[in-house]
Amino acid sequence: MVAIAILAAGKGTRMKSALPKVLHSLGGRTLVEQVLRGCVELQPERQLAIIGYQGDRVRNALEHWPNIEFVEQTQQLGTGHAVQQLLPHLADFSGDLLVLNGDVPLLRPSTLQKLLHTHQQNKNAATILTARIPDPLGYGRVFCDDKMLLKEIIEHRDCTDAQRQNNRVNAGIYCFSWPKLQEVLPKLQSNNDQQEYYITDAVNFLSPVMVVDAEDYQEILGINDRLQLAEAYDILQTRIKNQWMTAGVTLIDPASITIDDSVEIGSNAIIEPQTHLRGNTTIGSGARIGPGSLIENSSIGENSTVLYSVVSDTQVGTDVKVGPYAHLRQQAVVGDNCRVGNFVELKKTTLGKDTNVAHLSYLGDATTGEQVNIGAGTITANYDGARKHQTVIGNKTKTGSNTVLVAPLTLGDNVTVAAGSTLTEDVESDALAIARARQVVKPGWKLGAS
Ligand code: UD1
Ligand code: MG
Repeated sequence: MVAIAILAAGKGTRMKSALPKVLHSLGGRTLVEQVLRGCVELQPERQLAIIGYQGDRVRNALEHWPNIEFVEQTQQLGTGHAVQQLLPHLADFSGDLLVLNGDVPLLRPSTLQKLLHTHQQNKNAATILTARIPDPLGYGRVFCDDKMLLKEIIEHRDCTDAQRQNNRVNAGIYCFSWPKLQEVLPKLQSNNDQQEYYITDAVNFLSPVMVVDAEDYQEILGINDRLQLAEAYDILQTRIKNQWMTAGVTLIDPASITIDDSVEIGSNAIIEPQTHLRGNTTIGSGARIGPGSLIENSSIGENSTVLYSVVSDTQVGTDVKVGPYAHLRQQAVVGDNCRVGNFVELKKTTLGKDTNVAHLSYLGDATTGEQVNIGAGTITANYDGARKHQTVIGNKTKTGSNTVLVAPLTLGDNVTVAAGSTLTEDVESDALAIARARQVVKPGWKLGAS
């Protein structure tokens, strides 16, 4: 039986941030959520998040996580003090407890499996995850014998210069036999440089404690400042991009592309330079996105193209051409085989299939039928200064250039709107609507003559 506890109560002073450290975002998810995701494969019996600094904010951000329990650490007196708060909550628990730092977000599930396996195989009192890293500055140093049995963990700031030469560091990830940890937790003292209760001291009290090195030291990177946050983002990006390229997605100039780890991409899609795929986004196979596009919380259908455009909270069908320079937002829905071209904005608008909005238009709160042609410069005047109103356009209707549709307004099927019209009244199907001043030509007219 395994329980996990995530230390997420600290302020994160070194971030110099109003936001608690564990709520900083890494590739579309908070740090603490990245840690939780890493543990899903372990199928833990219990999941406890220790919260404290801006605890309500952390709680709100994690409330959606299934079966999470919150444990309050009202004063942040150190990582050992944080784990002490578990005592009343796990009074009846007798299995293993995996303790994770909420600021170590890049762990692979396989590494956690290996840690747990070593712990259980050897019946250790505790097993700790370590790595040998090129720049160990700031990490606790781990000293062990050649059988990987722990001798001591000493915090960077409590080390002598000679001890700092050791580059085997504590990842902040521990597997404990809970009944054994329960016994030593009350014995922690705060007689160290920071006057804090250290979880590492609890480890030092236990025996036998084994050390497991992570193969890839990048996995154990802890985020204590914004430089490390940027470094972790780079590592995560490389992982995500390698995964998609291996799965058959072409990335052109990968260094200029960013992809959140919540994004799904079909095979044979091509992602061009300076493109950013964020949030809950799906790209269909054969689609071509970019250069220069931002797609956020949207789905793009198979074989569609998006060129130099911004698409958010939008569904785009198959074989659609978007851009250059289009902006689709707020629940826009674009049917199959449509074209949304240069300098077109769609907001809360649904286009039926085979519809073209090729140039210089704004459609807001509108619905079109199929095979509609929206002429250049067609604008829905959807806002009367107080409320938004709907525009409905029937199948095969065509609006001329520079049409203004003053909502609420309904155009039937097969309507033709003359160029330059400002429509304020509904138009029945199969009609021509003209709403503009007639042209007047005065033959022989000269300036100054009456
Ligand atoms: C800790 C380890 C260090 C290890 C490093 C790895 C200790 C004493 N040191 O140091 O050996 O190399 O992590 O990243 O544990 N937290 C609480 N309550 C508190 C204090 C902290 O919940 O009272 C949480 C923080 O939110 C954070 C985690 O514990 O998620 C680690 O705290 P942090 O202050 O970053 O510890 P480090 O100095 O990095
Ligand atoms: Mg830390």
